[in-house]
Order: sequence, then structure tokens, then C-alpha cells
Amino acid sequence: MSTSAAMTTSASPRPVRFGVVGAGFIAQWFAEAVAQEPAARIVAVASARPERARDFAQRHGVPHAHAGFDEMLHAHGPSSADPIDVVYIASPNTLHAAQTIASLEAGFHVLVEKPFALSPIEAKAMVESARVAGRFLMEAWLPAFEPGVARLREVLPRLGRVHRAVLVKEQFSSRMGAYRAGELPAAFDPARGGGSLMDLGVYPVSLAIHLFGTPDRVTATGQLLDSGADSHGTVVLSYEHGPHRGLEVACLHSKTSVGAIDSVIAAEEAAVVIDDCQWPRRIELRGPRGQDPRALIEDLSVRRRGPQLGYELAEVCRLVRSGARQAGLHPLYASLAAVDVLAQARAQVGVRFPEDLQA
Ligand SMILES: NC(=O)c1ccc[n+]([C@@H]2O[C@H](COP(=O)([O-])OP(=O)(O)OC[C@H]3O[C@@H](n4cnc5c(N)ncnc54)[C@H](OP(=O)(O)O)[C@@H]3O)[C@@H](O)[C@H]2O)c1
Repeated sequence: MSTSAAMTTSASPRPVRFGVVGAGFIAQWFAEAVAQEPAARIVAVASARPERARDFAQRHGVPHAHAGFDEMLHAHGPSSADPIDVVYIASPNTLHAAQTIASLEAGFHVLVEKPFALSPIEAKAMVESARVAGRFLMEAWLPAFEPGVARLREVLPRLGRVHRAVLVKEQFSSRMGAYRAGELPAAFDPARGGGSLMDLGVYPVSLAIHLFGTPDRVTATGQLLDSGADSHGTVVLSYEHGPHRGLEVACLHSKTSVGAIDSVIAAEEAAVVIDDCQWPRRIELRGPRGQDPRALIEDLSVRRRGPQLGYELAEVCRLVRSGARQAGLHPLYASLAAVDVLAQARAQVGVRFPEDLQA
């Protein structure tokens, strides 16, 4: 693996070279972000079906397409003609842990899609691999790098003591039609790590951890589909110690509702209301205490620029070039905490993954 130092000392540093695993929905967004980020380049793509990798490579001007993950790792080591610096894992949830660990052991840095892992055992093994390999590892939880979440971090101290937050991620699944027609897409298959908690619940849960830290207690309810995956539910995170003692965060998630419910952080001095906890754009400070609690004090809305994964990608390139081993804005402990919360929530709701049997 070429060193990060080489990338930082050059007057005009060469782009960070990515190998992409998966050629589906999110890989497409990633390629769109890379196209607008001079610090990044995609060297290779691998997909389960070779024709899918070839098609992706053609559409995005990627020089190498591989029939599978192993082939890509072997072809693009440090002494190869076209080496990879970072493996971006955009494959289904069930493959995240094994592909992350194999990439780290082969000497690559890793950016792995959310959810980080299916179980706490997997997540701990991934973090340990990164430590042993001395490589960068980050979960691609993009809100950490969004300007709207930066605005939330700034405004929190102005709210006073926070007692309650309701964080919402609801989105009617584009795969529901297929499910109702008798197919079993990964999004609704517990054997492939699907369901609302894993795909959408991760957003409010991780935002709560990002803003308030690791909760002390997890209480979850939810509804199961016939497949055994959850369609929607609520996870309540309770904070019993530390600066947020007494705080309860209700995390609402659904794959069966349109996303029409705002998120709100309500505190003693004021409240902040946001339109979406994945990429907040409309951000309203309301209150203050003693006056109309719904009155707008200040419009703190942000305009985001560029492609969906643009902010996250720019930060990953900066971190890898600087020799960082994890992201300050989304450190590995936060991914471990989210995996742990989601595992507890799944157990309470009755969603069983094959990986849960290891626990
Ligand atoms: N950050 C976000 O906003 C966001 C949004 C959506 C999804 N995600 C996450 O991204 C991941 C992928 O989701 P998606 O919606 O993009 O799924 P998708 O459209 O189904 O794409 C998955 C891709 O993985 C490939 N794949 C499957 N097995 C593989 C293997 N063994 N080796 C290499 N590639 C393999 C598939 O290959 P074939 O097509 O060749 O079969 C497909 O190209 C999930 O973890 C999801 O949670 C993140």
C-alpha cells in the first residue's frame, strides 16, 4: 500500500484511489460524487455479476471492472500497475464485515456503507482489524459531514438542557412493490440483514449518538412483515448519566410511510425543528421559553451543494491523505454504539438475523 505521507508531501497531491465493491444504487451516487471531487478517483469496481461491474465501469469511466471482490483486491495491491488506496464497500449489509476485514488485512483503507455491521461481534472484529492493520476505517454515515448537522452541533448549546428529542427517518421503500408481488428483496429479508431498523433506523439512532453520546438504555417496539423483517417502529434511547441525564430520544423509522414527520429537539430554553435527520436543510429555532413555543426565533436552514455523498467524500479524502485512522466527526466508537443499539432493538422487536445466533 502506498503511504498516506506520500500523498500529503507532494505539492500537487495525486487523487485518493478508490476500489468500489458493488455497482448498485449507492455506488452510483458515490461515482457521481467522485466525478465532482478532484481529490478522488475510482480505479476499479467489482460486482457479483461481471456484466453489472462492466456496465458501471463504462458509465463512469472506471478503468477496471472485476467479477467479484477477491479478484479486485488481488489485482490492485500496492505493487500493481494501478493500486487502490481505499476500498469503498457498497455491497449488501451481510457482506460489510467480511469484506471490510479482508480489505484491511490486505493493507487497504476502508469506507464501509451503513449499517456498519449486523452484530456487535462483527463490529468489534472490524475495528480490531483496522487497529492491527493500522489502516483508516469509517462507516459511511453521511450526516456527520452534512452542513445541516454541523448547524445542529452549533445550535445545541443555545437550547439549554435537553429533555426530549424525536428523530425521524421514514421513507416508503421503493422495494415494497416487489415484496408485495411475492419477491424477497434484500431490504425485506432478515437473512440478508434487511428491515427498517437496519436501513433507516440507523439514521436517527446514529444522530442521537452523534449529538448526545451512547445511551444507557434501549427500549424498542416495531412491526414485523411476514418475511420476519421489520417494516416500522420506534426506538427510545434513555440517558441516565452524564451531561444529558434524563434525556429521552425517540427514534422513529419506517419503510411503509411517506417521510412527512419533522424531527425536533426540545429543551428548556428553545426547540430546534429539522426536516430530515439524514440531511437536514430546513432548520428552525423555535420558542423561546415563556412565549409561543411554535414561534420562529431564527431560521438556521442551510443550502447544501453538490452531489449527495459530496461532503462525506471530501472529508474521507482529506482524512486518508492526512494519515488519519478514523474520522473525528464519526469515530468508530459511534459505529460500535449504533450497532449495539440496533442489535438490542432487533432483539426486543423479534427480528432475528443468522448473525444473532453467534451472540
Ligand atoms: N448512505 C446512503 O445514503 C445509502 C443509501 C442506500 C443504501 N446504502 C447502503 O449501501 C449498501 C448497498 O445498498 P444498495 O441500495 O446500493 O444495494 P443494491 O442496489 O442492491 O446494490 C448492491 C450491489 O452489491 C453487489 N454485490 C452483491 N454481492 C456482492 C459480492 N459478493 N461482491 C461484490 N459485490 C456484490 C450487487 O451486485 P450485482 O448487482 O452484480 O448482483 C450490487 O451491485 C447497503 O449496505 C445499504 O444499506 C446507503
